Amino acid sequence: MEGKRNIVVVGGGVIGCTTAYYLSRHPKFNPALHTITLLEAAPSLASGASGKAGGLLGLWAYPSCLVPLSFKLHAELAAEHGGAQKWGYRHLKCGSISATVTKQRIQQMQTLNGDTKAWERLPKQNEAAQELFASTNQPEDLDWIARDLVEGYAEMGAPGASETAQVHPYHFTTSIGELARSGGVDIRTNAKVTNIKSSASEVESVEYLDRESGETKQINDVTDVVVSAGPWTGRVLPKAKVEGLRAHSVVYEADVSAYAVFTDIELPSDFVPEHRAKMGQKRKHKGSVDPEIYARPFGEVYACGEPDKLVPLPETADQVECDEAQCDDIISYIGTVSPVLHSASIKAKQACYLPQHIRFGQESGPLIGGTSVPGIWLAAGHTCWGIQNGPGTGKLMSEFVFDGKATSANISNLDPRKFKV
Ligand SMILES: Cc1cc2nc3c(=O)[nH]c(=O)nc-3n(C[C@H](O)[C@H](O)[C@H](O)COP(=O)(O)OP(=O)(O)OC[C@H]3O[C@@H](n4cnc5c(N)ncnc54)[C@H](O)[C@@H]3O)c2cc1C
Ligand SMILES: *[C@@H]1O[C@H](CO)[C@@H](O)[C@H](O)[C@H]1NC(C)=O
Repeated sequence: MEGKRNIVVVGGGVIGCTTAYYLSRHPKFNPALHTITLLEAAPSLASGASGKAGGLLGLWAYPSCLVPLSFKLHAELAAEHGGAQKWGYRHLKCGSISATVTKQRIQQMQTLNGDTKAWERLPKQNEAAQELFASTNQPEDLDWIARDLVEGYAEMGAPGASETAQVHPYHFTTSIGELARSGGVDIRTNAKVTNIKSSASEVESVEYLDRESGETKQINDVTDVVVSAGPWTGRVLPKAKVEGLRAHSVVYEADVSAYAVFTDIELPSDFVPEHRAKMGQKRKHKGSVDPEIYARPFGEVYACGEPDKLVPLPETADQVECDEAQCDDIISYIGTVSPVLHSASIKAKQACYLPQHIRFGQESGPLIGGTSVPGIWLAAGHTCWGIQNGPGTGKLMSEFVFDGKATSANISNLDPRKFKV
């Protein structure tokens, strides 16, 4: 007979929430015997990247040992819990464009003051090359990127939308968290884990700061701890070597056709975004910029830019600094190729930290599985595919904890012990 399990999940991002959910749905979970507690340092779930990501899901994402399972589980979760309504689960098409914006075009645009209709009547940049542009196969219904600027379009994944989908990451993460709660998980917010006490052979207790009362609290007789603190994982468990990289994003209010678009936009060499010109800045950009733009359910469009290393990871997710000028850069770049978005109103300007494991010489994937201390588990470092890979990670984590091994996929490549954790 199996003994009492007292499981603590550290972090209420997509990985912590899906882990808690699948633990509470595991056939061996008996709420009369076992306890599952999720500790989240911020005042609410999904306060970090999981609430501020794009939400793209792709069968063509990485790592390949985890992606197919997780892509399938997303479809199953949506079917079981009404995900289309609750978190905007849907399929969409995905492509990459390359575009060139001339100096003359920028000057013409600046005279329009956000008038979309006038934007669309601008003399076409390459009247002479119309035929060439017609051959770039930019789909008819991708009508929110100016056709006359696009030099190349390439579809990603299999043709159509079978291999690409999306969720609204904030609604997905918080909904799964709520489902875990109703399945018996004790979710505590404002609970920042400060110490995991263990011997070489087992976990003992988990100490956390209750940020509301200022008291230090302790959960004793812990049998399992799953560390899923995203970019903070390296702070909770230093040997995990998972860190954060800041990235800014913006959310527009706009209802456009369902495409995720990766861009490569060549701007005039002396291009300075308007907000920077107003501040007297001459910002050098590297000739081309490559924001990613995702149409999203619920009448939104999401876009993100490049990561930066200007501000180190703060103590908690609610203290992340957003540099508004970087958001305005994204808006300004996208405004050169999209008339609709040029005049759309902005719902959010935000920043978050991408979690990544520091290892050398290979595409970095997450670390999922046991560590050198039995009972301390790791599920972190999901880089830019944590939303896509959340359900698969959670399911496998529940198998590790209750069955001792992962059976739904072979993820031996992601074993933390391979990386001395
Ligand atoms: C700009 C951007 C766009 C992205 N777009 C996509 C996308 O389209 N598709 C996709 O699949 N992925 C995307 N991602 C990646 C995805 O957002 C992340 O991989 C994922 O959110 C990581 O989830 P997580 O739960 O590991 O971390 P987080 O979301 O960071 O959650 C970790 C949680 O742990 C909490 N925590 C930290 N320290 C402690 C502590 N000591 N005690 C208790 N709690 C603690 C934090 O407050 C936080 O809530 C994107 C990322 C970025 C930055
Ligand atoms: C799992 O994958 C690893 C590496 O890809 C391989 O060496 C191993 O044999 C696989 N295990 C099983 C049970 O298939």
